[in-house]
Amino acid sequence: MIQTIVLRNKASMPVLGIGTWEMGGRETANLTDRGKYIESLRFAIQEGFSHIDTAEMYGAGEAERITGEAISPFNREKLFITTKVWPTNLSDEKLQQSAFNSLKRLRCDYVDSLLIHAPGMIVPIEESLETMIRLKEKHFTRSIGLSNFSLEQMIRIEALFPGEIDVCQNEYSLQSINKGLLTENSHSGVIPFCRANRIAFVAWRPLGKGSLIKSPTETMVSLSRKYECTPAQLAIAWTIHKAGTAAIVKATSEDHIRENATASRLKLSPADYNSLIQTYDS
Ligand SMILES: NC(=O)c1ccc[n+]([C@@H]2O[C@H](COP(=O)([O-])OP(=O)(O)OC[C@H]3O[C@@H](n4cnc5c(N)ncnc54)[C@H](OP(=O)(O)O)[C@@H]3O)[C@@H](O)[C@H]2O)c1
Repeated sequence: MIQTIVLRNKASMPVLGIGTWEMGGRETANLTDRGKYIESLRFAIQEGFSHIDTAEMYGAGEAERITGEAISPFNREKLFITTKVWPTNLSDEKLQQSAFNSLKRLRCDYVDSLLIHAPGMIVPIEESLETMIRLKEKHFTRSIGLSNFSLEQMIRIEALFPGEIDVCQNEYSLQSINKGLLTENSHSGVIPFCRANRIAFVAWRPLGKGSLIKSPTETMVSLSRKYECTPAQLAIAWTIHKAGTAAIVKATSEDHIRENATASRLKLSPADYNSLIQTYDS
């Protein structure tokens, strides 16, 4: 059983989710291996994952179609589906259309979380947030959130729309403790801010796309022995160690899915948690 976080809207979000980036293509659709991805998402649900993370951008909508087909035999109410609106669709009209299109591809009446995928350059954030809030009120989504926003942007938005943001999704792993590709200070700034404001923090790329565990450090190897786990389980457990933090890990192989499903049960001691930070945060 994967533990859950209670969001500001009182909904429960599982602390581990399955990622779908590159299932069905990158910026354009690629139908190769479509069946394999549907099967791996179904296997993940059978293994206890109920939280799936996708986006309208992934494979130009194909990852949402794959997700929609994968979840179709399951009880929708037991799943937590997140999708994201791309920064070119942040005007009121485009955002509403984007949410409508995502629901259609996902074959769902609502998503559990709708995120702005990254800050936009043109539309004022006030306009986008007002639409996001309306989409929540109209039950298109149960919660709303922001992805790849800086601490300064989060502070400003929380002041403009107090209590409305449920989720913040940024890059966070032992390899990107305070320096991700798109954001900084996750550990030192964004996560403490989210905790103080009851915003759930969701880490994307918790395994550094696999590179974090290809050559584990000595500390990681010795702690894996101590906790009788794999380096991947250790890295995932580290990411979700603090209350209020969750992680989206992508796995398509059955062995990886099985391994990751149990990682939320692993509890690191504060000393071991900190020793991993010291190893990586140089
Ligand atoms: N909001 C954003 O801007 C944003 C950006 C990037 C990603 N994301 C989300 O976050 C998700 C996760 O990030 P990611 O997919 O980039 O990278 P990731 O989850 O850090 O790593 C995925 C890679 O790790 C491998 N892996 C998984 N479990 C493993 C295990 N137990 N042992 C060894 N290898 C393992 C997978 O292999 P197999 O597939 O072979 O099992 C895959 O190659 C994405 O899929 C997406 O949903 C969001």
